[in-house]
Amino acid sequence: MTMSDIPATTTQTGTPVASDAHSLTVGADGPTVLHDRYLVEKLASFNRERVPERNPHAKGGGAFGTFEVTEDVSAYTRAAAFQPGATSETLLRFSSVAGEQGSPDTWRDVRGFALRFYTTEGNLDIVGNNTPTFFLRDAMKFPDFIHSQKRLGDSGLRDADMQWDFWTLSPETAHQVTYLMGDRGLPASWRHMNGYGSHTYQWVNAAGERFWVQYHFLSAQGVERMDAAEAEKLAGSDADYYRRDLFDAIARGDFPSWDVYVQIMPYEEAKAYRFNPFDLTKTWSKKDYPRIKVGRFTLNRNPQNFFAEIEQAAFSPGNQVPGTGISPDKMLMARVFAYSDAQRYRIGANYNQLPVNQPHAAEVRNYMHEGQMQYRFNPVEHRVYTPNSYGAAGGPVADAAAGVEANWESDGALIRSAATLHSEDDDFGQAGTLYREVFDDAGRARFLDTLTGQGRSITIDAIRERFFQYWTNVDAGLGEALRSRV
Ligand code: HEM
Repeated sequence: MTMSDIPATTTQTGTPVASDAHSLTVGADGPTVLHDRYLVEKLASFNRERVPERNPHAKGGGAFGTFEVTEDVSAYTRAAAFQPGATSETLLRFSSVAGEQGSPDTWRDVRGFALRFYTTEGNLDIVGNNTPTFFLRDAMKFPDFIHSQKRLGDSGLRDADMQWDFWTLSPETAHQVTYLMGDRGLPASWRHMNGYGSHTYQWVNAAGERFWVQYHFLSAQGVERMDAAEAEKLAGSDADYYRRDLFDAIARGDFPSWDVYVQIMPYEEAKAYRFNPFDLTKTWSKKDYPRIKVGRFTLNRNPQNFFAEIEQAAFSPGNQVPGTGISPDKMLMARVFAYSDAQRYRIGANYNQLPVNQPHAAEVRNYMHEGQMQYRFNPVEHRVYTPNSYGAAGGPVADAAAGVEANWESDGALIRSAATLHSEDDDFGQAGTLYREVFDDAGRARFLDTLTGQGRSITIDAIRERFFQYWTNVDAGLGEALRSRV
């Protein structure tokens, strides 16, 4: 303690320091000495504060909460977290896709909706968006897509030509671009938007029966949009508008909730369904597969430290638990690799040992060890290898019955090809339905205004021509209207 009752500042190793303000110098105006270990430590720590930002989804915010299962979906999954009455701690991070860490929240974009359940069987992450589809159906195109959304190589500027060039040459983007240019591209706040797993996942019940599943998280606050003019104003006056809105709401006890629903498709129906259910650019009709309620989660705790708990949060679609799993969606299978690879680079080899990433309701037991910043270690009697002959004291043994994995039949030659087309699959059909049957008149008018502005921002004639054709393919009348307005 100092003379006052305020505790003394210390070095990183706990030694009290003499000054927070003055370097150690030779005389009042003399040279600074290298052995001022506190000054050196303070500057060195500062130099290492920034880690690479997420590429993509760099700008975001999040909070913790609680999930409660209110219904009985045990016929479809054996996952402990989805059994009647179960509760799990949750973490939800919202984000924009294209902008950098300091970018304005209210730039038009798809919004990330990365949800973690800390379950008794390990962490389950559903890393989705506020749209039920995506721009692509093959991971090979993902880096090109993100490049086209970010910045030009020479000037470092964002560029409408670049994104419309990519989109109009990739017709599978039409459904998601229709969502993006509609009201979902500018939500009133993160609290006022739905989340979707977007991909088809698999559930497995206690009897081993398999189902295909789509997750829907419906905002109890309702879905609300923001006016484009308001968004533009906020982008200049309050770049962190969504982050602030979420933090302030939770701080004042106004806890946002989402109802968790699933669409369930019996395993065998996937083959003959009119849309390929493993094509991420498609939705399943709610008439064919109505939403079934599972429960509700509420965000009720702000992070205590943004960097430690939100910036260092490492979500992965590969974090599945027994009774849940992935599907043969080519995008999803690639994502299982991509996220943990990014996080080993962004955070470090032992990123899953950090408090926000380690399981909170399950134990970690395996033979992986050491590496940079190892923090967790096994009991002393554990062997460092398996198999070993020391029984329970020697360490864990994998158990096929406990580690149930999603699975499906697969056979065929190794080829590079588009996914199988089902009877009603094409690139523009569902986008046209969204425009004509889901948007209301006012929504269609706003959509047309947004696209008119987008069309006018294209500077290259050939790209503008493809822009007209792209929207004509979605809806002939829309294409005509754009040709006359742009
Ligand atoms: C093959 C396609 C994709 C690849 C390769 C990919 C890759 C990545 C990578 C590398 C990150 C940064 C991870 C980190 O540093 O922690 C990321 C973040 C994210 N991605 Fe993807 N992504 C893909 C498709 C998707 C899709 C289809 C969705 C939504 C349905 C999605 C939603 C997200 C979200 C929400 C985040 C932010 C997670 C967070 O809040 O930490 N991504 N993606």
